[in-house]
Amino acid sequence: DFQVAFDKPAGKISPHMWGIFFEDINMGADGGIYAELVKNRSFEFDEPWMGWKRLTKAPEGTLLIVNDSKRKGNARSLRVHNPDGLKLGLQNEGFRGMGIRKGETYEFSLLYNPLEAGLRIHVELLNEEDKVIGSATMALSEAEGWQSAKAELVASETSAKGKLNVWIEGKGTSSFDMISLFPKETWKNRPKGLRKDMVQLLADMKPGFLRFPGGCIVEGRDLATRFQWKKTVGPIEQRELIINRWNTEFKHRLTPDYFQTFGLGFYEYFQLAEDIGAEPVPILNCGMACQFNTGEVAPMDELEPYIQDALDLIAFANGSTATTWGKLRAEMGHPEPFHLKMLGVGNENWGPQYIERLEAFKKVLKEKHPEIDIIASSGTDPEGERFAYLDGELRSMGIDIIDEHYYRPPAWFLSSAARYDDYDRSGPKVFAGEYASHTTRPNGPGRSTWEAALSEAAFLTGLERNADVVTMASYAPLFGHVDGWQWSPDLIWVDNLNVYGTPSYHVQKLYSRNKGTDIIPIQRNGRPVTGQDSLYASAVYDEGQKQLIIKFVNYNSEPVQANFNVLAKRKWKGEATKITLANADLQVSNSLEEPLKIQPVEQQVNYKGKSVVETFAPYSFTVIKLTL
Ligand code: AHR
Repeated sequence: DFQVAFDKPAGKISPHMWGIFFEDINMGADGGIYAELVKNRSFEFDEPWMGWKRLTKAPEGTLLIVNDSKRKGNARSLRVHNPDGLKLGLQNEGFRGMGIRKGETYEFSLLYNPLEAGLRIHVELLNEEDKVIGSATMALSEAEGWQSAKAELVASETSAKGKLNVWIEGKGTSSFDMISLFPKETWKNRPKGLRKDMVQLLADMKPGFLRFPGGCIVEGRDLATRFQWKKTVGPIEQRELIINRWNTEFKHRLTPDYFQTFGLGFYEYFQLAEDIGAEPVPILNCGMACQFNTGEVAPMDELEPYIQDALDLIAFANGSTATTWGKLRAEMGHPEPFHLKMLGVGNENWGPQYIERLEAFKKVLKEKHPEIDIIASSGTDPEGERFAYLDGELRSMGIDIIDEHYYRPPAWFLSSAARYDDYDRSGPKVFAGEYASHTTRPNGPGRSTWEAALSEAAFLTGLERNADVVTMASYAPLFGHVDGWQWSPDLIWVDNLNVYGTPSYHVQKLYSRNKGTDIIPIQRNGRPVTGQDSLYASAVYDEGQKQLIIKFVNYNSEPVQANFNVLAKRKWKGEATKITLANADLQVSNSLEEPLKIQPVEQQVNYKGKSVVETFAPYSFTVIKLTL
């Protein structure tokens, strides 16, 4: 028997409790959600021809990479000098090929600077067998200076590994740059926008927040390759790319072609957060590079530009259009503020160097922007234990929110459902900013099995029961591309044409879409249900929906019958929706072939009297929504 103390709510639940962690890892942004199909469109990768192949032989000097340092953020371009009118061709391989869909329109575009007019461009889409499945021709203007041109192509076939041929015809000389191909249909049909199918899965979660841009990429391997938000805003051709921190990270998955082009930059992250109804949660570098790599630090007397970046970011997000950064936001298309409320300082940083730098950030930020909550990192948590200073320095510093990360085996998640039951309520709130149940790491890639997801569901009952202190939670990493990942498990897997949610995705989504507004205590034998007999439970009330929502995990191989006595003065109707995620085999997962093997099954039920008597399937996570 379980007692549900409906009349004794135990605290409020943050409206942005369940959210999304976004990082450009596993080809999450470039080659993933950012819908650009051309790899190395601006020839700025370390090796300028990476991604490109010359289709024709041409005399020396016909095709040249020119480096013009006066061009902001994008010095290199391709100079074509073709006085004899030879047929010249280039092929781009895309990011592990290009996903092309039959009947869809693609927009090809480039920048060019004609020195001697007369060239024209013919482009072709190819499938895996090199068959042309779409083409277009465009003339180039004779006007002087850098300018843009575009053409549309319609694909006659679907191809998961398409390619692009660019033929340069006619006599003349011109520079070319930003050679680009996007599907016309993107999320909200924004030109050069995001992959619609991938964003849709995020929107379906109804996330409370979007944390961006990472992860370790915030820190960089060294400070030179840290994420600098100012370099990711403004015209895309001026955004200076850098090598991705996840480039060739893991020997079993080499990705030497992994760069951050920043077509998805801070403006687009804010816009994405707004689109999907999520609070924007940017995390900035605190003057420290990744402590798993160089651990390079900026000296304290050189920290000022890092702190200024934080101040300017607040101006970019919230400032009036009369300020420099607010004006840029308006010029980019968003005069209204983005309503930034939280800002992270450092990702997975720790030790005295971190505390010192965090202090310096806090001093300035709290003085100038007391309205912004500061999120501090608690480093990683390799043993599943909190770092000593979590309850010490960060607490005594009066930090608003502490970001904890745990990548641990299923057994840890199952045994940690009470982790926050005795947590001191008088200080900072907790942001469970990165977690995932890892089935086989560190000896191999973790699989996103039902075992992993169900252990997370069990642990999350503990976050929900303690939602007065744990105010934010997000799984990590978010995306994995099947042909270019460095880290696994991930919440959502994609290839160039398809996307599916893992069992963990369905768990996250069920929590997020049924988060409620008030914590309702639920007990068995006078104690919270934290794994006794492998059962876990939490309950919330949703004021808007007037629903009592019970979440229950049965981590047993046998069905379990349970009786919930709802202690409520209020009348209730007994009508309920029961949503079940279950599988008797803990080793199953979803896949491209079977994307919905594990998915929620919804049914309408009716409970008589004031108790809910229910049988829970073996290895199941169930959400019961009772209308009162
Ligand atoms: O989510 C993958 C990585 O895990 C993140 O980049 C980092 O913060 C953590 O170590």
